[in-house]
Amino acid sequence: MSRRRHLVDLRQGPPAILPSLLLCDFGNLEREIRQLEEAGVRALHLDVMDGRFVKNLTYGMPIVEACRRLTDLPLDVHLMIEQPQDYVKQFHNAGADIITMHAEAVDSPSGVLSQIRELDCGAGLAINPETPVELIEDSLPLCDLVLVMSVKAGFGGQSFQTVALEKLRQLKDLVGEETLLAVDGGVNDGTIHDCQAAGAQLLVVGSAIFREASYRDAVRKLTDLALPV
Ligand code: DX5
Ligand code: ZN
Repeated sequence: MSRRRHLVDLRQGPPAILPSLLLCDFGNLEREIRQLEEAGVRALHLDVMDGRFVKNLTYGMPIVEACRRLTDLPLDVHLMIEQPQDYVKQFHNAGADIITMHAEAVDSPSGVLSQIRELDCGAGLAINPETPVELIEDSLPLCDLVLVMSVKAGFGGQSFQTVALEKLRQLKDLVGEETLLAVDGGVNDGTIHDCQAAGAQLLVVGSAIFREASYRDAVRKLTDLALPV
């Protein structure tokens, strides 16, 4: 199946909760992924940080590969790295279905977005809270996904910044139906509904799942709260 086919699946149906695996137990990755599958999540969000574009350092291709071996769920790889163009191919080979890079990490995103699409992956573009939508407006036709950061990229567990809601509303008017809008950072019981109402179809959640005893209960509760009223 074409990897881009996953984009169609994600566009259909209710808003999707994407667990961010930053806080999961990497010593028990298989068990963690099984629990998330049983909780009914529709894709996994993998946060790759290089200690340069952001201060934090996480993991790279080997963990993406390990996830690929363990699940058929789409893998949404969020690159918080400098020079993402140098690594796109490797993340594709590792099994990424969607590759999202930061607008702040490149001079012009268009070339990298096209490179990602040529590999048959979904092409995503992320913007930090201080980056205006206007900066990426020209690149939107090349985006399969736009990731609006509601915290500054780098760490889980930060508080939600409401500027993300304004940007989602702005983007909703600018992108076509085929472009997914996603939000990432501080999404929890108190913020998820506003995100959905502002236009986010994909809701990336870290702490509000992984700090809970039952992933299934957490995902169910968040999904209910995210449903359109
Ligand atoms: C932050 C990451 C997020 C984050 C989400 O740079 O991109 O995916 O870890 O975690 P919470 O939900 O705890 O903000
Ligand atoms: Zn992320």
